[in-house]
Amino acid sequence: MTDYFPGFGNHVSTEAVPGALPVGRNSPQKPAFGLYAEQLSGTAFTAPRHENRRSWLYRLRPTAEHPPFRRYEGAANFAPGTVNDPLPPNRLRWNPVEAPAPGTDLVDGMTTMLANRDPADLEGVAVHVYAANKDMETRVFFDADGELLFIPQAGRLTLLTELGRIDIAPGQIALVPRGVRFRALLPDGEARGYVAENHGALFRLPDLGPIGANGLANPRDFETPAAWFEDRDEPFEVIQKHLGSLWTTTLPHSPLDVVAWHGNLAPWRYDLARFNTMNTVSFDHPDPSIFTVLTSPSDVPGRANADFVIFPPRWMVAEDTFRPPWFHRNIMSEAMGLITGAYDAKAEGFAPGGLSLHNLMAGHGPDVTSWQGATNADLKPHKIAGTMAFMVETCWPYKPTRHALDRAQPDYDAAWEGFPKAQLP
Ligand SMILES: [Fe+2]
Repeated sequence: MTDYFPGFGNHVSTEAVPGALPVGRNSPQKPAFGLYAEQLSGTAFTAPRHENRRSWLYRLRPTAEHPPFRRYEGAANFAPGTVNDPLPPNRLRWNPVEAPAPGTDLVDGMTTMLANRDPADLEGVAVHVYAANKDMETRVFFDADGELLFIPQAGRLTLLTELGRIDIAPGQIALVPRGVRFRALLPDGEARGYVAENHGALFRLPDLGPIGANGLANPRDFETPAAWFEDRDEPFEVIQKHLGSLWTTTLPHSPLDVVAWHGNLAPWRYDLARFNTMNTVSFDHPDPSIFTVLTSPSDVPGRANADFVIFPPRWMVAEDTFRPPWFHRNIMSEAMGLITGAYDAKAEGFAPGGLSLHNLMAGHGPDVTSWQGATNADLKPHKIAGTMAFMVETCWPYKPTRHALDRAQPDYDAAWEGFPKAQLP
């Protein structure tokens, strides 16, 4: 049996029980076995065909059958809202979050660090970190506010979703569409990582322009799971994030009961090692957009609501060039994380699992040590190996949560202390 289907945004047809998927229609008068047909849309019904994303689900019970939701009081650091006080323009950086208390699952182990729009705007992106040590056994989560891009940093994740089972390890990413219920298992007992929550247009592959038809993240390397379901008649808690707050209800059964589905709105996984990295073979560091894996466009052409960008292992061959990312001030705002290794523009203080924020017009770039090293380096071909950093870049300036502001490293500005003055003739 197929575990995964290759391709990005493809139309998939899959059934976990033979005969469960209707043929030639979406909503027959009597679906097989008494299953319930349900459409899940990721775009407006009337979105242009090339952007239209939806799937049809055939399930043991309709999602509509549920008691009212009430406020969820757990997960104190998940979706607490951002700070409304005037936001200092300072660059910020964080160490990895502390180890969670025993019995912390993925939902309770989420810490919201940065956000930038009201989810009701249907624009913006939030950055969360997670640290968990307990499986979600009889509990599922879904996010009505956006799609969730999981970026594991330590420990594998098994995401049991309504549309199939996804296994990922650090170095891989996975996306769960808006509204799709899932529970997370931790095969290694513990897991840490990042989540980018995209409120805006669905993540897609960037246009390639003069690069041509191939390169960067190739569509065939994205993997969508085959239908999978569980038939468990016991109490299941359903937690949702809705308009920036958390809500809970309890069902008498697992809602992961989709026996068959078809469509092009589905979870997927991708191995970042398959990213076909492009870079200069002459001089000058290209703009980091050359490393874009996924983009969520805004309404302004070329201005991303959110870009997911990686800094993978790669050869550096540029001649007469300062090879690390240059000093810059951007209209876009950058949240940066580190999956493994060291980032080539920061010699220290930026640990795997940590996070940094360089917001609207904040001057940044290499620290003194990295600048000195790169300025004096013998420019032979050099392989940057054993590292994977990433950035969630957005046109909307980020606002940290109070929790994040209170835990920022106090001395991050010192990374840019001590540059010698240029000497004019
Ligand atoms: Fe930057």
